[in-house]
Amino acid sequence: MLRAKIIGTGSYLPKKVMTNHDLEKLVDTSDEWIMTRTGIRERRIADKKEASSDLGIKAAREALANAGLKASDLELILVATATPDMIFPSTAAYVQHGLGAGNAAAMDISAVCTGFIFGLSIAEQYIKTGRYKTILVVGTEIMSRILDWTDRKTCVLFGDGAGAAIIQGSEDESGILSTHIYTDGSYADFLLAPGSGTRHGYGSAAQGDKSNCIHMKGNETFKVAVNFMSKVAREALESNGLASEDIDLFIPHQANQRIIEAIAKKLGVPSEKVFMNLHKYGNTSAASVPIALDEALRENRIKRGDLVLIVAFGGGLTWGASLIRW
Ligand code: COA
Repeated sequence: MLRAKIIGTGSYLPKKVMTNHDLEKLVDTSDEWIMTRTGIRERRIADKKEASSDLGIKAAREALANAGLKASDLELILVATATPDMIFPSTAAYVQHGLGAGNAAAMDISAVCTGFIFGLSIAEQYIKTGRYKTILVVGTEIMSRILDWTDRKTCVLFGDGAGAAIIQGSEDESGILSTHIYTDGSYADFLLAPGSGTRHGYGSAAQGDKSNCIHMKGNETFKVAVNFMSKVAREALESNGLASEDIDLFIPHQANQRIIEAIAKKLGVPSEKVFMNLHKYGNTSAASVPIALDEALRENRIKRGDLVLIVAFGGGLTWGASLIRW
């Protein structure tokens, strides 16, 4: 059976670096607290002129170049973002136009930090049915625009960036073995940006109104993140008759080093097989997994035939995993 295969990746990180020491000047925090509790040392901040589609276009151009394809080859564009350019049209429409991908249908995916894996899952189905031959999946975020820069519990955690992957069919053993996605809306109040919608109204965010910003129950989110991600990772392995010893590289959502270490321990994956770059970028939400995947490939951490497990978790709550034979 035809498998969906990632044939090229790309990423883009804004130039501006904000360190933990920079944050010490904004809120009552310290580099030591942020490093010990999260593992994050610095994050990137997009330029005021940049929107999420601008970051996504740069990552997508790199992914197309890596895959040796032209924008006109794309038939579908899926953009995962929690920080869209605007309410509508979709950020994907801007990415499509910016790339010059006139042959592609384009749509956004709203699954916050799990958005890239949701996108991969949709792409996988379209490839398997033969409906589309070439699909672009992008995760792009400007989290810095929806942070309350006076709330030390959230503003230290997130960063901006974009990652992209090109998916095509594969006739051989390589490709996505399976993708597993979940949502449980009963946890919606764990992690949300409630403003700018039909629930709380549009355009009412006066200066000082924080309703558009991220609100999070940090401790509660931590616990369910570990449980849900390790459970879905196990499901991905079991459904393919594989075990954690078979994993060559584990690429988890880059939210918090302690969350990652707890999942790796539960799964029995040794630290040398766990990819982490959150010290450089913080939590870039939907961009986190594709940026990490792109970096892992550029650092030659993935070889042909390797088994790669990606797993993510985010607002919704949403969570998911994908097992990929490279
Ligand atoms: N700097 C200094 N102190 C801080 C701080 C900061 N940036 N943020 C919180 N604190 C303080 C708290 O106010 C609290 O003080 P108190 O005991 O006087 O009330 C103390 O540190 C401990 O806070 P707590 O929330 O218990 O810390 P924690 O060890 O649980 O770490 C998080 C907090 C947010 C880092 C952690 O809960 C977490 O990572 N949760 C998951 C969040 C996440 O990844 N969300 C995205 C998922 S996609």
